Amino acid sequence: MTTHQRLVHALESKGLLPPEWRAAVASVDRALFVPQVFEGGDFAADAESWLRAVYADAPVVTQVNGGEPTPDGEFRRFTSSSSMPSIMLEMLSLLDVREGHRVLEIGTGTGYNAAWLSHRLGERNVTSVEVDEAVLNTAVENLKRAGFHPTTVLGNGRDGHRPGAPYDRVVCTCTMRDVPKAWWEQCPDGRIVTPWGSSFFSGSYATLDVTGGTAQGTFSGYPAFMWDRTQPAGPGRIGDVHHGEAGQKSTTDIAPQNVIQDDPAFFTSLSLTDVRYRWCEADDGSGEATLWFLADDRRSWATVEYVPDRESYEVEQYGPRALWDEVRVAFLRWHGLGKPGRSRFGLSVDGDGQRVRLDDRSVRPGG
Ligand SMILES: C[S@@+](CC[C@H](N)C(=O)[O-])C[C@H]1O[C@@H](n2cnc3c(N)ncnc32)[C@H](O)[C@@H]1O
Repeated sequence: MTTHQRLVHALESKGLLPPEWRAAVASVDRALFVPQVFEGGDFAADAESWLRAVYADAPVVTQVNGGEPTPDGEFRRFTSSSSMPSIMLEMLSLLDVREGHRVLEIGTGTGYNAAWLSHRLGERNVTSVEVDEAVLNTAVENLKRAGFHPTTVLGNGRDGHRPGAPYDRVVCTCTMRDVPKAWWEQCPDGRIVTPWGSSFFSGSYATLDVTGGTAQGTFSGYPAFMWDRTQPAGPGRIGDVHHGEAGQKSTTDIAPQNVIQDDPAFFTSLSLTDVRYRWCEADDGSGEATLWFLADDRRSWATVEYVPDRESYEVEQYGPRALWDEVRVAFLRWHGLGKPGRSRFGLSVDGDGQRVRLDDRSVRPGG
C-alpha cells in the first residue's frame, strides 16, 4: 500500500494518532509536501520508492546547508525537513490545541504541519514563520496545492509575528536554546511547546504555560529537531575539531558512559551549553570505546578511553578549556544533588530571562 492510507495506518497501528488529529492527518496528503529529490536520493524516476518514503513515519530532509552546495568532504548540516509525523503529533498533543485556537508556528519547513493546523483550526487561525525564503516559497506552493492559505511570514521566528497576536498557542519546530521573549509576550495566556536544549543535550520538549507575564514549564520527550538557524551548534564531526595534536593526559575513575546517560547529560547541558559529545565504539569486538567532547568553537576537545573491567580510564584534554574537567564537575554536582531525573526540573521565563529550577529551587549547575 503506497497511498496516504499507509501513513494513517502506520500511525494508528502504533497508537500514535490522537483522535482529535485523525481527520487532519487522513485528509492532508503528505505527498503534496515532499519533493521528489531530497537527502537520500532522486526519486523522480522511481515513484514507488518515493511514495514509500513519503508515507513512512520517518523524517524527510528537504534541505542541507541552507540550500548552498556542500563542498566535498564537508559536514552536511540538515537545515529543513518534513518532520517525522509521529513526532509532529507528539508535539501537537503537548500543545493541547482546542477548536478556535489561534496558533503561531515557528519553522514552516514544507508546510505540512501548517496544513494539519489549518485543517483542524481553519487557516485564519494559523500563522507560520520561516527564516529561509526559498523554503518558505516552496511551502506556500505546497499549501496552496493542498488547498490551504494560512498566514505565512518570512522572518526570524524568534520575533514571532506581532501583527497576528495574541496567540493561544506557539509551537516551534526547530531546537531553541532559550524561549524568546516575543513568544510569551504574543501568547500571554496560552501554551508554548518547543524543542529545547544546548549543544550537549538538545533532546527535550519544553512545554510552558503563560500567565501573568511569566511562562512556567517542564521538560519531556526526546525530540531531535534541527537547530534554530540563528543559534546553531558547532561542527558535528570529530575531524572538524581534532587535528592530530596531543593533549594533556590524566586519568579518571568515572566510567565515561555514566556521564552521558540522559539525566546527567541533561543536567550537564545546563552549564556546558557549547560542547557536544560523541561515543565511538571500537569495531574490533573488544567493547572498548572513546568518549569525545568537542567545543563548538573548535578550539578544545577531550577524550576518555573506556576499557571494560577497568576502574581507571585515560583522559586527554586539548585547547584553552579542559572539557573533561568541566563535565566531571557538572556530573559530581548532579550526584551531590541526589541524581535528579529530568522530570524534576522546570523552566521559568520572564522579563529577566530563563531560569531552570530543580523542584522549587533555582539551580546554577556550574556553581
Ligand atoms: C524541522 S523543519 C520544520 C518542519 C515543518 N514544520 C514541516 O511541517 O515541514 C525546521 C524549520 O525551521 C526553520 N527555522 C530554523 N530556524 C528558524 C528561525 N529562527 N525562524 C524561523 N524558522 C526557522 C528551518 O529553516 C526549517 O525549515
